[in-house]
Amino acid sequence: AELMNRVPVIWIELQDCAGNSEALLRSSAPTVDSLIFDVLSLEFHETIMAASGHQADAQLEDAVEHFKGKYLLFVEGSIPTAMNGQYGTIGASGETFQEHLMRLSKDAGAVIAVGACATFGGVPAAAPNPTGAVGVMDLVKGKPVINIPACPANPANMVGVVLHYILTGQVPELDSLLRPKFAFGYRIHDNCERRAHFDAGEYVEEWGDEGAKNNWCLYKMGCKGPMTFNNCSIIRYNEGTNWPIGVGRGCIGCSEPDFWDKYAYERPM
Ligand code: SF4
Ligand code: F3S
Repeated sequence: AELMNRVPVIWIELQDCAGNSEALLRSSAPTVDSLIFDVLSLEFHETIMAASGHQADAQLEDAVEHFKGKYLLFVEGSIPTAMNGQYGTIGASGETFQEHLMRLSKDAGAVIAVGACATFGGVPAAAPNPTGAVGVMDLVKGKPVINIPACPANPANMVGVVLHYILTGQVPELDSLLRPKFAFGYRIHDNCERRAHFDAGEYVEEWGDEGAKNNWCLYKMGCKGPMTFNNCSIIRYNEGTNWPIGVGRGCIGCSEPDFWDKYAYERPM
């Protein structure tokens, strides 16, 4: 029996790689099928829906009309604003991604930006940002926007936000970057399984050295765990299977704004 009302979800993809959709499909607690059948009513999602073309457009318009003010709008991917948005258009009308986002967010109950690109611009916004890519919060005003950054966003955090919304009718408590505190109130470095090695001054100095073989701290190989807020050092990915530092490479700060320019791969001097 259904314990709660399923919340209608419209999921759109803009300047993206579908990595967050992929991550959601791998959600294991709950699984994506129980999520779709028991928790969400997924009204529109280009990548996993059967309809295409005009049929898909019609399904989107029906959902907006039917669930006005109630649906959660999930956005994956950044929004190109250069050249009047002509870097990204969608559907037969040639609507730009920006127009598409503005139109669909107007009637949403809340807008949830998932992944590095939809939150802070991500890789498309990296210098020199030829498409003028920005995140959802730079454009959508006057309605709740929730950011679930990381590359990809952890499906456990997407599910956490949705369950909170269903159970309380509210968005969870957010930090100054609109990230839910339950997931982004933790510094990677403070919960890292290699922290004891950092404290002991035991570092990996070269790939494949003794330190690497013994899972020592990756700070000298460029780990950005000390500057990064996310809960992957606690919950990992894929039902706790593993996470970047667990497989022996540093954190690249994928949940932080401008991570690609500021953090990725740079080693300390
Ligand atoms: Fe901190 Fe990174 Fe070292 Fe972990 S591997 S202790 S996050 S610097
Ligand atoms: Fe991203 Fe760093 Fe976690 S790169 S997935 S925030 S370990």
